[in-house]
This record gives sequence, structure tokens and C-alpha cells, in this order.
Amino acid sequence: MKTLISGGTVVNASGPFAADVLVDGEIIAGLVAPGSAESTSWRESADRVIDATGQYVIPGAVDGHTHMEMPFGGTFSVDTFETGTRAAAFGGTTTIIDFAIQSKGKSLREGLDLWHEKADGKCAIDYGFHMIVSDVTDSSLKEMDLVVDEGVTSFKLFMAYPGVFYSTDGEILRAMQQASTNGSTIMMHAENGIAIDVLVAQALARGEGDPKFHGFTRPSLLEGEATHRAIQLARVAGAPLYIVHLSAAEALEEVVAARDRGQSVFAETCPQYLFLSDADLAREGFEGAKFVCSPPLRPERTHVDLWRGLRTDDLSVVSTDHCPFCFKEQKELGLGDFSKIPNGIPGVEHRLDLIFQGVDQGEISLERWVEVTSTTPARLFGLFPKKGLLAPGSDADIVLYDPHATQTFSAATHHMNVDYSAYEGMQVKGRATTVLSRGSVVVENNEYVGRPGWGQFLQRGENGLLR
Ligand code: URP
Ligand code: ZN
Ligand code: ZN
Repeated sequence: MKTLISGGTVVNASGPFAADVLVDGEIIAGLVAPGSAESTSWRESADRVIDATGQYVIPGAVDGHTHMEMPFGGTFSVDTFETGTRAAAFGGTTTIIDFAIQSKGKSLREGLDLWHEKADGKCAIDYGFHMIVSDVTDSSLKEMDLVVDEGVTSFKLFMAYPGVFYSTDGEILRAMQQASTNGSTIMMHAENGIAIDVLVAQALARGEGDPKFHGFTRPSLLEGEATHRAIQLARVAGAPLYIVHLSAAEALEEVVAARDRGQSVFAETCPQYLFLSDADLAREGFEGAKFVCSPPLRPERTHVDLWRGLRTDDLSVVSTDHCPFCFKEQKELGLGDFSKIPNGIPGVEHRLDLIFQGVDQGEISLERWVEVTSTTPARLFGLFPKKGLLAPGSDADIVLYDPHATQTFSAATHHMNVDYSAYEGMQVKGRATTVLSRGSVVVENNEYVGRPGWGQFLQRGENGLLR
């Protein structure tokens, strides 16, 4: 099957240029000058010509942080691999990396097998896994090496959630030492969970059960402190570190200092920390529960720091941390006790559009938009140049993006399997109009034309930003 995408502006992380894209089967065969002899001859033999006039043609976006069917607080996030990857495709994301979970007392093997079972034959787009290590033992440390050999080359540890996912500093150090020998990257949920639990108990004892107290009991200083500690532990172990869902200026300062001294420390932020704030958490009644995630939403002034971090590359990636729980019956588990509200915000469908607002508003350049949503996550998580780049030999994961389209986000129209939108009523510029996954159109004319099971498991390589 030969496809020609003609008349668009190709945007890679290196910048925009006019080019026609030749797709042969699942792979990009070439980028050629519009109207050139190669383009004309490809057009003559093509099975399909897609007109991209007036549109950006970008590498399919890579979301390095999702939680489909994740157990949390006695319930499960509501997007399955089928519904979540379809919603991702609608928004121009053609690769997700989800978190397989090792439960306490179980092996990594059991956790990884379970996640393969959940995803196999279900996904609309390609997918990989990170692994959450919640039980650092001699045997799980050894298992890390085996998992790396199977293409799961990054491990998340938690300084938060004592009794659930939490690891002590000693356990974290041991996992980091293991990572330094097997070439994997440690991802860190950096919040001081021990101190937070004290603040939570004190707040509840005072009768402070509303959602806004979720934010008050997880102060940004405790994110900064944990980020500092994680960075020092990684320094001692000589391991690369990736800070997930960074939300606070105090944490960003620690990342800046580490990067300035040449340490291999990377960080992501998420759209919710750039567009929402603690004012949403404090909405009337129980509405704030829709915005409960950890780390919590911060004051609006933090948006300025995070956009600056994205410009300066101290924040290298924007991921969603997509973790959807319905308002009805799931978020409601925490009525009167914010500590029982399942943590997480839905967003896998909207990342590309939200970050494009940063381009429209002059916060970042067009090429930086592609870099933070596609190219850098592909590099960091060992998928580049298969993903994250439009070039001969790369997978034909391609998004046609209309910068002049407008849309309004709403639970009534989104494709995520969740009963509310954190961005309800928000009007944005730009939209993915046609989405190809490995050469096959999966979304066009606002319709899903893909199928569950098209998406393949991706065995990932080493972090490509280490040399
Ligand atoms: O609130 C969040 N972030 N939920 C998902 C789990 C995690 O810590 O990433
Ligand atoms: Zn986390
Ligand atoms: Zn997460």
C-alpha cells in the first residue's frame, strides 16, 4: 500500500519545511520536494493521496505516561487499552507507554504478564510499558534485568503513598544501582509521602475533608524536598533519573541545578499543571474532586515557571499522566474524606491540542511542540528514530494537524471513557484531522477507522539521551 501525503508543512523537532511524504506500507519511504519528479511518480503509483494543504504534518505523538485499567484506592481507572488508545489516536497520539505494576509481595514477572494480558489485541496504536516497582527485594532487583531484556527499559518508584507503592530511600538507592548496571532509567514520583500522611491525618482530624485539602496537605515544598533527595540518590548510584509529573517551582529548581552540573536528570510536566490550578481543586461543593491528582494542582503563577522550563529544556517532555476515574461513584468514594478520592485526571486525548495553545500563545515554538510531545519522549524511552521523527525508515505514524481548526472540549464529545472533562467548555485552536499509525489511517473526518489489535507492543531500547 503506497500513500502520498502532499502539500503540507512537515514539522520535525529540527523545524518546519515544505515536503511531500511518501509512505510505503508501514514505513516512511521518503520526504521529497512538493511537485518534484519523485512526488509525481509516487502519486501516479499511489493507492491513496492525502491532501495536507494548509496543515502541519508531524510525527505521531508519544505519550510516555498513561494508566489504563490502573488499580487505585479500591477501584480501577476506567479507560481500557481499547478505549484509551482510541481516544489517544483521536488526539494525534500514536504511541503510549503505560505503567505495568508489580504489586507488593508479587514478582515483576506477574505484573508484566498481567499488563500484556490487558493490552494484547486491544490497542488502536502502538504501546510500550514501564514497570512500577513497589517491592524492592533481592529477587525483584534481579528481575529488573530480565524485564529490560524484554524491552521494558524504565522503572517507576514512589516516594509517596506509604503502604502501597512507597519505597524507602534505601530501596530506591538499590533500584538505582541496579539501573546503573542494566542501562535502564529510574522514573520517580517525587513527593515526601511520609510527611504528607502526617499532614493528611491532621487535616482529617480537624474535619477538613473537602477536595481542596488534598492540595493543602501536599505542599510544593515536599515535592521540592523529594526531588532533591531523588536527585542525590541517583547521583550516588550513578544512574539516570526521570522525574515524572513535575508540578512545582521548588522541584524545577532542583532539576535545573542537577542539569547545570551535568547530571543525567530529566523531567516531564503535564498539561494539567500548565492549564489548571489549585482554584479548580477548590471549586464549589465536591466539584474539586475532578481535579484531584498527585502531585496536586498548584497556584496559577506556577504556569509561568513551567512554560519557561519547557523553553529552556529543563522540562524535556510533556506527558499526560492520563488516569481517568469517573466523577460518579469513583471520585465520589472520597465524599467527606479527600484522602479516599482516587488520584488522577483524564487527558490522553488532549495533550497535543493543549500544548499547541502554547505555540499559538507564543510560549514555545512549533518545533518545540513536536519535540516535547513526540521526539524527546521517543528518544528518552528508546523508541527513536522508529518513533518521534518523520524521516525515511521511520514508522509512518503521521498526524495531519490543522492549526486553524477550533474545538471545544467536553465530556459530551470526547472519546475517553470517563464521565467528565477536566477542560469542560475550553475552546482551543488546532486539531488532528487525519492520523496514521504505521501507514494505516486510524482517524479521519473525526471518525475512528482503525481497529483494536492494530497496535503492537514496542520493545524499547536504552535512553537515547545518555550519549
Ligand atoms: O494522581 C496521579 N498522578 N495518579 C496516577 C498515579 C501516579 O502517581 O502517577
Ligand atoms: Zn506518580
Ligand atoms: Zn502516573
